[in-house]
Amino acid sequence: MRIVLVGPPGAGKGTQAERLTKTLSIPHVSTGDLFRANISQGTELGRLAKSIMDTGKLVPDEVTIAMVKDRLQHADTENGFLLDGFPRNTAQAVALDEILKEFGIALDGVLDLEVPEEEVVGRIAGRRLCRNDSQHIYHVIYKQPAAEGVCDECGGELYQRSDDSEETVRTRLEVYHTETEPIIDYYRKQGLVTTISALGTVDEVTERAIAALRENAND
Ligand code: AP5
Repeated sequence: MRIVLVGPPGAGKGTQAERLTKTLSIPHVSTGDLFRANISQGTELGRLAKSIMDTGKLVPDEVTIAMVKDRLQHADTENGFLLDGFPRNTAQAVALDEILKEFGIALDGVLDLEVPEEEVVGRIAGRRLCRNDSQHIYHVIYKQPAAEGVCDECGGELYQRSDDSEETVRTRLEVYHTETEPIIDYYRKQGLVTTISALGTVDEVTERAIAALRENAND
């Protein structure tokens, strides 16, 4: 299955992607995580990405598209992938279509997570990530680790993302509305979009997501 997961910051894309990719046995390709890995490795791309991510704006299309194209050529994506955080504007959506065409493959579906703005603000404020693996995501109220500040899965230290400040989150939400929301229409015209509510417990949202993907696969 080749899936794009879309939704505002804090909708639960990373949380759901970690579960869905385990169920579907496909890799989780998150552009945010790829940038964060570059930041912790101190690469040139990481330095560029950090300076932009901390403002809440988008990293330039050119470097982002090249990074995704490179990632999609790894052998683990042969039987599918879940894209989280990409594409994020129409230019990236068009570029993804071109990349997939070049590889002789196509998307199977786009899962759109819908959640009210007041909910995402609370989710982001309480989010904590593992320093060893940013796909291990916690929340100070909704998903507490067994020991405070320590990742249940690998014992890594939990930290708060530097772009999770109130001011940056406001910019990220604006960027989502102006730049990313139009891609939902772009994919709707291709008959690819299923919208589900991302409210409720993490388990409830996962059940909804799996049901939507199954329905999509049977269409
Ligand atoms: P990215 O890392 O992609 O961030 P985002 O899209 O803003 O999304 P988030 O990671 O904030 O939220 P999420 O939906 O994954 O929520 P999560 O599961 O963590 O991008 C960061 C930056 O990188 C961008 O601003 C940009 O600068 C750059 N970038 C990335 N991709 C780019 C691209 N393609 N082009 C250009 N620039 C790009 O959940 C949030 C919290 O809620 C967690 O604490 C979780 O435990 C909790 N939670 C989840 N589900 C529930 C639930 N059902 N109930 C209660 N709590 C829940």
